[in-house]
Amino acid sequence: MSESSNADLRGEELLARGLGGSVVIRENAGLLFELLEHRLSTLAEQSSAERGSFHVALSGGGTPKPFYESWAKSPYFPWDATHVWLVDERRVPYDDERSNWRMICEALCDRAPIPKDQLHPMPVEGEGLGARYSKEIASAFAGEPGEAPRFDFVLLGMGADGHTASLFPESPALEVADAWAADNDGERVVPPPRITLTYPVLNAARELVILAMGESKTATLEKIARAHLAGDADQRELPICGVDPTAQGGRLSWFLDFGAARVAD
Ligand code: 6PG
Repeated sequence: MSESSNADLRGEELLARGLGGSVVIRENAGLLFELLEHRLSTLAEQSSAERGSFHVALSGGGTPKPFYESWAKSPYFPWDATHVWLVDERRVPYDDERSNWRMICEALCDRAPIPKDQLHPMPVEGEGLGARYSKEIASAFAGEPGEAPRFDFVLLGMGADGHTASLFPESPALEVADAWAADNDGERVVPPPRITLTYPVLNAARELVILAMGESKTATLEKIARAHLAGDADQRELPICGVDPTAQGGRLSWFLDFGAARVAD
């Protein structure tokens, strides 16, 4: 399709063509969560059969919390093979209300029978936090030297400014090419300072889902889709545009509810 006819695309068709990967749209959170849980169960069974473990990296934010609560009740999930990592964290104590680890423990890890030594919070005290987490990731994944560790599953969210994980527009962590996690701060990083997974490890994921719900996400989704179709997506301005595991054989899906997918005409 030519660029001029792409400009006429609207709504679901625009998102399906422009976002990249597969775009899954369901009426409400309940239906999306059901599908996500099913996808996770299939992958977890497969990963644990093939590799003996299932490594997931999870997002904070408000969107996935009710999903974690419902997933925690899944009786047949291979929790004993599951390792939980974070995609990002705020530099605050774990009992702070802004802590992603606090939220993920309350919603998931305190409820599901995941072995404690398979829980991997990001460090929040001291210096070189990103480097410490990079090291922990590297030691948990056996691979060829220099090869990026491959998480079995990564769940990302998206902010209205196009950030994902704690990769914010024009922030230093966007440039990190030689570490799996990095500290991040700067003018456009919503305080407090952050720790985040980096593009190289996100893009090595075997499976990556971006979950976005509600009308506050619609305009950003439209912007991303139009930028991709026009061939001028700028990851410094819309950091989520830098996420694409498909180039390394991974799978990318967008999970959207009707609210988020209602692109204005
Ligand atoms: C966080 C995140 C962040 C989040 C988006 C969307 O720690 O806040 O990991 O990237 O996914 O900001 O947040 P909502 O789900 O609250 O809209």
